[in-house]
Amino acid sequence: MSTCPFCSAVMIQAQKATRAGGLYACLNCMNGCLAFRNGYEVECREIENFMDVRFLAPKGTPDGTVLAQVTKALDDLPTLPSVPQRIMRMVYDPMTSVSDIARVVNEDPVLTLKILKLANCAFYGGRQPITSLEVACSRLGIKMIVKVVQAVGSKEVFKTRSKELQDTMRSLWKHSVVTAYCAGEIASLMPILSSDEIFLAGLVHDIGKVVLFNVLNQLYTEGKLWAKPDTDSFEQLVKSYHTLSGLHASQNWELSTELRAATFFHHFPEYTPLEEWKPLVYIVGLANLMATKLSYGGLDKTDEPYETHAAVSFLKLDPCRIQQTQDYIESQVEDLLNAMED
Ligand SMILES: [Fe+2]
Ligand SMILES: [Fe+2]
Repeated sequence: MSTCPFCSAVMIQAQKATRAGGLYACLNCMNGCLAFRNGYEVECREIENFMDVRFLAPKGTPDGTVLAQVTKALDDLPTLPSVPQRIMRMVYDPMTSVSDIARVVNEDPVLTLKILKLANCAFYGGRQPITSLEVACSRLGIKMIVKVVQAVGSKEVFKTRSKELQDTMRSLWKHSVVTAYCAGEIASLMPILSSDEIFLAGLVHDIGKVVLFNVLNQLYTEGKLWAKPDTDSFEQLVKSYHTLSGLHASQNWELSTELRAATFFHHFPEYTPLEEWKPLVYIVGLANLMATKLSYGGLDKTDEPYETHAAVSFLKLDPCRIQQTQDYIESQVEDLLNAMED
C-alpha cells in the first residue's frame, strides 16, 4: 500500500504510479511527493529541496487555515470542458479535415463567434470579411483552432461569484492564455518536442492561484477572513502555495504527470526531479516570464532578462530568438485575447 512519506496516510491516488514515476499530493497533510511502482508495490518519496508544508503553514496559522480548505475547494472547481477534449481527439486522427473540425465547432455558438472574430482580426484578416465558419477554420488552421477552443473552454474555471475578485480572475485567465501561447511558440523553436500538451500546460500552470482565491473568497463570505481577499493582503500566501495547490488541482483533474510537473515546478524548474519532465517545466517557466514581460503577468511584474533565466541554457535557446518570439507574439496577442473575450 502506498503511503505518504510525510504523514504516513494511505495515498490511494498514488496506486496509479508507473515504474517511470509520478507526482502526487497527499490529501491528508497536503504535501507533494514522488511515487514509483516496483512490481505490485508503490513507493512514495519526498521531493528534494521542498519543505514539509506542515512546517511552512502549521495548523491554526492564517496560511494553514487557507491551505486546509484547498481540497474542499477542488470539489467546486469546474472540470476542463469536454468539447475541447473531443476536438483534441479529432486532431490526433490523421483523417480529420478542417471541415470535420468546423462541424464540431459549429455545435457551440459561442465558440463559433470567437473563431469568426479571430479569423477576421487584423493579424489573420484578409481584405474580405469571413462569414463562413469553414473558411474561418481553414484560415486559422487546426492548431490555432485547438488553442482557441482550449483557451475559451478554460474560462469557466476562472469564473468567480465575488465582485472584488472579478478583475483578478480575468487577469489570471489572460496570463494563462498568454503563457500558453508563449509556451507553444517557444516549443516551436525546438525540434524535439511534441506540442500536444504544451498549450494546456501553460493554461493550467497557475490554476493553484484560482483555487487559493476561491478559498479566500469562501472564508471571506463566512466571516472567517482577517482581511479582504484582494491581491495585496494575500499576495505572498498565493505566491507561496499556488504551485502546491496547483498540484492538488491537476491531480484532481487526473492530468498527465508532465502537466502536473509543469504546474508544480514552473518557478523552480531546476528542482524538477526527473529528466523526462524537465523540457515542459522549463518551457512553461520561460513562457511565464515572457507573458509577464508582455505585461500579462497576472499579478506579477518582472524586469528579469532572458539571459539569466535557467530555461535558456537548459533548452539551449538563443536569447535573441526568444526576444524575436516575444516581439512576434506582441504583434498579435491583443487581437487573440479580444477575440476570445466575451
Ligand atoms: Fe506561477
Ligand atoms: Fe504564471
